[in-house]
Amino acid sequence: MKELKRLAGGGSEIEISSSDLAEKLDVSQQSASNYIIELSESGYIERKMSSRRQSISITEKGLNFLYRELDSLSNLLETEKSIVIKGSVTSGLGEGRYYVSRKNYVIQFQQKLNFIPYLGTLNIAVEPDYRSNYSRVKSAEGIHIEGFKTEDRTFGPVKAFRAKIFNTDCAIIMPERTVHSDIVEVICTDYLRGKYSLKDGDKVSLTVQIRN
Ligand code: CDP
Repeated sequence: MKELKRLAGGGSEIEISSSDLAEKLDVSQQSASNYIIELSESGYIERKMSSRRQSISITEKGLNFLYRELDSLSNLLETEKSIVIKGSVTSGLGEGRYYVSRKNYVIQFQQKLNFIPYLGTLNIAVEPDYRSNYSRVKSAEGIHIEGFKTEDRTFGPVKAFRAKIFNTDCAIIMPERTVHSDIVEVICTDYLRGKYSLKDGDKVSLTVQIRN
């Protein structure tokens, strides 16, 4: 995966034969070809065959795998503990309030984050330059908030990270299963739009704690 990403550079698609890959990895062609089959069966890459060459693209799942590796290495080596994400305030569909106010979540926010949030989420649309930082946060473990069932539906597990917005303690939350999203959802005791006179489009910076 590392070699494929190296070859893809900033993009996600490469054209390479198994024998060229074998040479780069210094393994037999059979091994290189097996790696490609395994990665493809695991959903980390997708391949298209054309005449002699094959084109390989790294999937979202493959990229997430690399981010998880990065996270586990930086854990191991105790590198940085917080990550900055910048973006602009945006409005959602009013769903944040609904989810955040479920009693079962609220109890866990209080137990695990030590605060009861304002009933809503402040949505931040992540700037393109900070999307890889957000991916790194998403691949980190975070604080586990359990899912639960009510009579009529299921609420999935969520993970949370303590964060700071301006100088205020807050947390960001996201579904535990990886989803593709460039929106960060912030919960906080304070009504942040009121406290900082925020309007849609205003730029904010979040410092997210990815470990203790
Ligand atoms: O409509 P939307 O999904 O964006 O929001 P919501 O989650 O229902 O939250 C209601 C409003 O409170 C929205 O305008 C949020 O941006 C805002 N909010 C805030 O200012 N500070 C918070 N800690 C949470 C929500």
